Amino acid sequence: MAQQGNAPKSRNSSLPSVLLRSAVLIGVLSLALTYLDAPLWSRIAEGFGRSRDKYAVGSGSGICRQEVKLSPTNIKAERFVRDKVESPAYHAEIIKKLSGIIQIPSESYDELGPIGADDRWNVFYRIEEYIESNYPKVLEKATLEHANTHGLILTWRGSLPASEAKPLLMLAHQDVVPVLADTVQDWTHPPYQGHFDGEVIWGRGATDDKGYLISILESVDLLIKSGFTPKRTVILAFGCDEEISGENCGRPIADFLHHRYGDEGIYLIMDEGSMGIQREFNQSFAMVSVAEKGYLDVGINVTSTGGHASNPPDHNVIGIMSEIVMAIEENAFPGRVTTKNPMFGFLECAAVHAPQSSMPSTVRSKLGRVAGGDIHAQAQLAQDLDHMRYYFRTSQSVGKMSGGVKINAIPEIASTMVNLRLAVESSISLVEQHYENLVRPIAQKHGMVFEGFRSSYGSPERRKVSLYGVDALEPAPVSPLDSESWRVLSGTIRNTLRPLENDDELIVTPYLMPANTDTKFFWALTKNIYRFTPINLVDNLNRAHTTNEFIRAGEFVREPLFFATLILNADDAAAGV
Ligand SMILES: *[C@@H]1O[C@H](CO)[C@@H](O)[C@H](O)[C@H]1NC(C)=O
Ligand SMILES: *[C@@H]1O[C@H](CO)[C@@H](O)[C@H](O)[C@H]1NC(C)=O
Ligand SMILES: [Zn+2]
Repeated sequence: MAQQGNAPKSRNSSLPSVLLRSAVLIGVLSLALTYLDAPLWSRIAEGFGRSRDKYAVGSGSGICRQEVKLSPTNIKAERFVRDKVESPAYHAEIIKKLSGIIQIPSESYDELGPIGADDRWNVFYRIEEYIESNYPKVLEKATLEHANTHGLILTWRGSLPASEAKPLLMLAHQDVVPVLADTVQDWTHPPYQGHFDGEVIWGRGATDDKGYLISILESVDLLIKSGFTPKRTVILAFGCDEEISGENCGRPIADFLHHRYGDEGIYLIMDEGSMGIQREFNQSFAMVSVAEKGYLDVGINVTSTGGHASNPPDHNVIGIMSEIVMAIEENAFPGRVTTKNPMFGFLECAAVHAPQSSMPSTVRSKLGRVAGGDIHAQAQLAQDLDHMRYYFRTSQSVGKMSGGVKINAIPEIASTMVNLRLAVESSISLVEQHYENLVRPIAQKHGMVFEGFRSSYGSPERRKVSLYGVDALEPAPVSPLDSESWRVLSGTIRNTLRPLENDDELIVTPYLMPANTDTKFFWALTKNIYRFTPINLVDNLNRAHTTNEFIRAGEFVREPLFFATLILNADDAAAGV
């Protein structure tokens, strides 16, 4: 948390004094107003508009308005699912199912060949068989189709056509991050044993993402068993390579569904989240990621003629590359909090719903100015929230560097790779421009040819600096908070999930996902893409890609209630069309 501090003096000035100051300014210096710095001008404007009151706790301003708890009209189906998730016999059953799927080591490796050519994909046949044998009712009511062999698509057809009620789509991935051989002994319980110690289920994939996969399957299974038949089609889709590129299953599944349902053909997409339910500012939040940062790997090559080390130039390719890396790190991307960033929505929610004393007044006092577009306040707020800096800026990390093969030879090439995660306000072309502006002068200074991102490379020139993009993904479009889909999701969260500790209320808030999910392939299918895991992820998250991954049984067994209620509520919304 940012340190709590007192508001700057000027923030406390009384309305009359602001009025007086404004009157003087307007009367005497009206022309000069244009040249005043933005903060002063907006402080004055605020004095008139009293806009800062909006960000007081319980201001009733409609900011971060919470939906009512949404109960399905199908009381019988809801009751059936609720009774199940409270029953110890059911707990034992669903825990066994999770434990069993953890025992299938469906690892995805960076260097996997294509499906069909690389035998290591075959483990995914076992996942499919496992689903088929554990969910016979689902397989009976829903149609199973395949996208590129291991992408699984289950369609539980509703009575209404997709043109009248767009399908609800829930995603999960079958693959897990590999367990490195020399870390196996660091696990308290073997990673692929699926050990349940009475409280926690241990193993690779417990949180990421097999708990989610089993929960959504369970939700459909329970609803089928309750006798419910949907009006709105429900689709479950399971990728096989979310942890690597997503090209083998993620993209084929998206293409398959896009071909069938078309642009904007889906009602709502649910996928794994990065935050789930957490406590911040002394308040429980259900953090729904409504956007993802972008992604870019930038490659830099410096090439020159080599030669004997006894006759070196003042700066060889390694020296010049070092200069470039220094320039990159010294010109890091500035932080800025804007209203486009869902994290601003989170701060608004915290301002009006968290205890007044738990949100630093330095933060609260800037929200109105940030909303008004004051760029000074936007930068200052990012500074105040430096402990969460990468939610508010593009990150850059120089991850690989190579150059030189022999101590007595002048190197001919130095190469570097930089990994960037793009702020929601940024874009691939803005980041590329920034890098070109930094690197071009260094190339010129050393009399080298400069090749930017849009160059046709391969210039015969031997002495050159080249920039090139490798993997690239724009920041995800921000999902709307005023759609029916969002209202149904929010109302479902509030109806089925509980706040942490002694909080009275669970506040649903938009959030930003710093990493990427398979949803990156689904942008055309709907604007309503929500990444959210309906459990307390506070500790689980840190273990997702490392040793001792786990999920708490008490939370896991309730996940199907959330997903089943979402299906029922989305079905009720279909009645109105
Ligand atoms: C950069 O150098 C690497 C080898 O270090 C090479 O594979 C790559 O093709 C080069 N790219 C450009 C654009 O020069
Ligand atoms: C949360 O509340 C406790 C007790 O009221 C207080 O001591 C603590 O500083 C608060 N935490 C935050 C982040 O404001
Ligand atoms: Zn995952």
